[in-house]
Amino acid sequence: MSYAAARFAGAMVAACIVAAGGGCGSRPPVSQPVPPVPPSAAPPAPLLIGAGSCTSAGCHAAPIADHPPWQSAYTTWATRDPHAGAHDALQGPVADRIIAALAVRDPSCPQPPARENMACVGCHATGRGPTSGEGVSCESCHGPAGPWLVAHTAQGWMTKGNRLGMVDLADPSTCAQTCAECHVGGPPTADGAIREVTHDLVAAGHPRLAFELRSYKRAEPPHWRDRFATPGVDPAAGPIGEWAAGRLGTLESFLRQADSQVEAAASGRRGLTAGVWPEFTAFDCHGCHRPAALAPAAARVVGPRTARPGWPRLEPMLWSHLDLFLPASACGPILEARTAVERGWSRLPDRRLLGTAIEAAVQARAELAAHVATIPSADLAGRIAAETDFTNWAEAVSAYGGLEAIAAHEAAAGRIAADGDVFVRLAGLRQLLEFPVESAGAKVERFSSPRRYSAGEVAVTIREIATALRVAPLPAPRP
Ligand code: HEC
Ligand code: HEC
Ligand code: HEC
Ligand code: HEC
Repeated sequence: MSYAAARFAGAMVAACIVAAGGGCGSRPPVSQPVPPVPPSAAPPAPLLIGAGSCTSAGCHAAPIADHPPWQSAYTTWATRDPHAGAHDALQGPVADRIIAALAVRDPSCPQPPARENMACVGCHATGRGPTSGEGVSCESCHGPAGPWLVAHTAQGWMTKGNRLGMVDLADPSTCAQTCAECHVGGPPTADGAIREVTHDLVAAGHPRLAFELRSYKRAEPPHWRDRFATPGVDPAAGPIGEWAAGRLGTLESFLRQADSQVEAAASGRRGLTAGVWPEFTAFDCHGCHRPAALAPAAARVVGPRTARPGWPRLEPMLWSHLDLFLPASACGPILEARTAVERGWSRLPDRRLLGTAIEAAVQARAELAAHVATIPSADLAGRIAAETDFTNWAEAVSAYGGLEAIAAHEAAAGRIAADGDVFVRLAGLRQLLEFPVESAGAKVERFSSPRRYSAGEVAVTIREIATALRVAPLPAPRP
């Protein structure tokens, strides 16, 4: 947290200044370059083997045209996927600006360049060795391939339940958590790279993180077939199941990250990007900033604007509408943790509450599919519309995610047209919520806030979508 932000946090001033006075030595590895691997050390078992291992003809490097996605996965990733450029992004002007701002904020600690900075490479690179330049490559999502490369080509290979470490991304909860390690953040990696985009990084120019599984999967050039497009025998395998599991997995990742931040702050392991609570990115940006004012250089801080002054809400994108799709047994402890954290937002939360909430989330994972299958989708749409605070951008985003999944479900069941009115309105809603990317000449500016946010228009659109979905007949009872 910067000094200004610390001052803003009132109660936290003392803690932060003490933290800032610690000097480089007492900091986490944020300010240290990646340690070089001693050349004489015996090479560890090859875990990360690099995207090149997936390129054999007949494996994943076929041309995109006329080949199923699995055969052209490498080609799609290498030529179209933003993840392939994630390490290169650490070399551009935006990254320089972020590093420069961090250095200015803390002149006592020299900042290594972003490509070697342990505050960056945990999410922008695959490992620290020769594969790091690949950016976020196959093994960042599917797991280190050394142990399974050969095995997964054998007939009868099953990713689900394998013990060799190939990640089962077909499971939406596992997938959400894998993405969320970088798109929400989490505890440091085993080798000490920090996986946090803190308010300090955001204030220095890093895009804010705002993740929702289905939207983010759709924003990627897919190298997979969409197994959730049709509601299957397994209720988790439909769009609504994917949405609910994605929300739960993302929230679980947030809880684990918050727990690690609180643990670090409590133990005095504080530094520039780790171990400070309250971490402002856990809270609703627009509780403190005017909606359209989060351009990198133009935030006008207005003070927490919430039901109770001085009581910022936890990020509504993560916390809204939970009671509509989580089993009650999970909702109780999760919402209890939320209330406790919000009430004492500037104090360190009780880690036991976070722990109970994490346990409840893990437990709910197993029950979620069966629970979601009992919710009539048309009712769900109505409740989402009825229970959204349209003045809040993040709540509207949460509503969008749910309505989009319900619409996909209805379309797959043939009850609404896949290119019909509901989808036109959903596209309109998405536009009202999107962050702009603007370029003037060579300068590209990514904003962290919607271009214009009109609660009125958002409310009308959400209600129209919900009404259209409500008139769709209720789904046939499942066998
Ligand atoms: C917790 C993981 C995480 C960490 C740590 C992190 N980033 Fe990022 N970064 C991301 C994600 C995710 C995005 C894409 C965000 C989006 O568009 O939703 C991103 C986007 C960016 C972008 C914009 C790229 C573009 O194409 O516009 C830059 C520049 C950047 N990061 C630089 C940095 C630097 C410099 C650091 C270290 C100080 C850093 N990042 C640390 C996850 C991280
Ligand atoms: C950003 C994360 C990410 C990266 C990076 C990534 N994948 Fe995937 N991959 C996924 C997801 C998500 C799926 C869909 C899982 C599912 O539903 O079965 C997937 C599915 C696949 C599939 C199965 C396709 C199908 O239809 O059954 C293959 C094969 C694959 N990936 C190969 C690769 C290869 C090779 C690379 C690197 C060149 C790579 N992936 C990089 C996330 C990723
Ligand atoms: C190891 C970290 C990591 C993982 C895991 C990861 N991402 Fe990313 N993702 C990034 C970074 C870093 C960027 C920014 C890349 C850039 O712009 O150069 C990014 C960018 C993206 C973008 C483009 C965002 C934009 O604003 O253009 C999408 C979409 C995306 N990721 C989706 C996913 C999905 C879906 C998954 C899980 C299946 C996933 N990511 C897993 C790190 C990760
Ligand atoms: C508890 C209040 C609070 C919350 C919540 C909060 N901020 Fe801030 N923000 C501040 C304060 C105070 C500053 C000025 C001090 C600083 O730069 O750290 C600031 C500064 C910034 C700046 C830099 C503005 C500039 O002119 O340099 C950006 C960008 C920003 N915030 C974005 C965000 C985003 C995005 C979120 C949500 C993920 C967020 N903030 C959440 C209080 C808050």
